Amino acid sequence: MTRHIKLAVAGVGNNISALFQGAEFYRNLRERGIADQDLPGIKRPRIAGIEVSDIDFVAAFDVHPNKVGVKFREAVLAPPNNYPRLDVELPDPGFAVELGLTPDDIDPSSEGFRRLVATLRDTGAEVLLYSLPTGLQWAATAYARAALETGVAFVNCTPELVARSPELLAEFEAAGVPMIGDDLASHLGASVVHRALLHLLTERGLSLASSYQLNLGGNEDFRNLREKGGSKRQSKLNALAQEGVDTSKVEVIPSAGFVAHLADHKVAMLNIEGLGWAGTPISLDLKLKVQDSSNAAGVIIDLIRIAAGARRAGLGGFSAAAVRVLKSPVGGHPSYTAEDIEAGYRELDSAAAR
Ligand SMILES: NC(=O)c1ccc[n+]([C@@H]2O[C@H](COP(=O)([O-])OP(=O)(O)OC[C@H]3O[C@@H](n4cnc5c(N)ncnc54)[C@H](O)[C@@H]3O)[C@@H](O)[C@H]2O)c1
Repeated sequence: MTRHIKLAVAGVGNNISALFQGAEFYRNLRERGIADQDLPGIKRPRIAGIEVSDIDFVAAFDVHPNKVGVKFREAVLAPPNNYPRLDVELPDPGFAVELGLTPDDIDPSSEGFRRLVATLRDTGAEVLLYSLPTGLQWAATAYARAALETGVAFVNCTPELVARSPELLAEFEAAGVPMIGDDLASHLGASVVHRALLHLLTERGLSLASSYQLNLGGNEDFRNLREKGGSKRQSKLNALAQEGVDTSKVEVIPSAGFVAHLADHKVAMLNIEGLGWAGTPISLDLKLKVQDSSNAAGVIIDLIRIAAGARRAGLGGFSAAAVRVLKSPVGGHPSYTAEDIEAGYRELDSAAAR
C-alpha cells in the first residue's frame, strides 16, 4: 500500500495534460496486472515507495480564460493545449482551476497570493509543480515563496532561477522544505542526445570545431520561446556543460520557429563538426522527433516523487536524486558523482520504508 502524492500544479498546459492522462494510462496497466519491468517508459517504478500512478491532483492554477473556473479534467484538454487525447478514461478529481498569480500578486500580503496560500493549505498539497511559460522570473519566485510559506515542496520545470537562487534555497533548507530545480531535462530530449554525442566525440579523441542545436515545435512552449528563449538557451548550454563540453563552440536556439502543424511534436536538428586525424573533418547531422510533452511528463513523474519523498522524510532543500533529470541542477552535475545520485534515491527509499 503506497501513499498517494497530493499534487498542486501552477500552469495547466501541455505538460500537465501529459502528466494527468499518462498517470491514468499507468493506473490502467497496473489494474491489468502489468509488471514493473513491462511498464513502457519507466525507469523507476517506485521512488520513495511511490508508484507512477500514485498521484492525486488536488489543486491547479492558471490565468487563461479557457481554463480558469473550468473543471480540471476539462481544462487539461482545453486549447491552446494540443497534447493528444490518450485512449484512457479520465477521472474527475473534483475541483476547478483557480486563478493563478498575476504581476500584482508578488507581494505576500496581496489578495491573489493569500488565496494561493489558502488553497495550498486547505487541500493539504504536498508538492507544488511550477509549469508556467518560460521567462516569467517574477512568477517562479512568487509561487516558490507561497510553497515555502505553506511547507509545500516545490518543483521548478522551467529555466527560471529558483533552486539556483542561493538565498531562496537557504530558506527552503532552513524550513525543511524540498526545493527541486531548475528546468527539467526531457526524457530523451535534444539536450541529453546532444550532450551524449558531444561527449562521445571527446571520448574518442576528436576535436570539436562547431556545433548547433535547432528546435522546432507547434505547441505554446515553442511559440513563447521564440521571444522569451534567453533563460532556456542558457539552461540548455548548462545541460551540455554538465559533462565538460566546451560550449563556446556550440550554438543553441530553443525555438527556431513555431510550426503549427507539428502540434505537440518537437523536432530538433543537431549538427556537430569535428576534426580527426591530421585535421581532417567529420560531420554529423541528426534529426530527433519526439512527443514533446510526453518527453516532459516522463521526468516530471520522477521530480514530483523525489519532492514528495523528501518532504515525507523531512529533507529540506535540494535532493541529489534529481540531478540527472534536470538541465540546471543546483551546483551543476560535476559536483555530484553517480554514487551521490544513487545515494540520494536510496535515502528516499529507506526513509519511506521506515
Ligand atoms: N519537453 C518539454 O515540454 C519541456 C522541457 C523542459 C522544460 N519545459 C518547460 O515547462 C514549462 C511548461 O511547458 P508546457 O508545454 O506545459 O507549457 P504551456 O504553455 O502549454 O503551459 C503553460 C501554462 O501556464 C499558464 N500560465 C501562464 N501564466 C500563468 C500564471 N501567471 N499563473 C498560472 N498559470 C499561468 C498558461 O496559461 C498555460 O496553461 C515551460 O516553461 C517549458 O519551457 C518543457
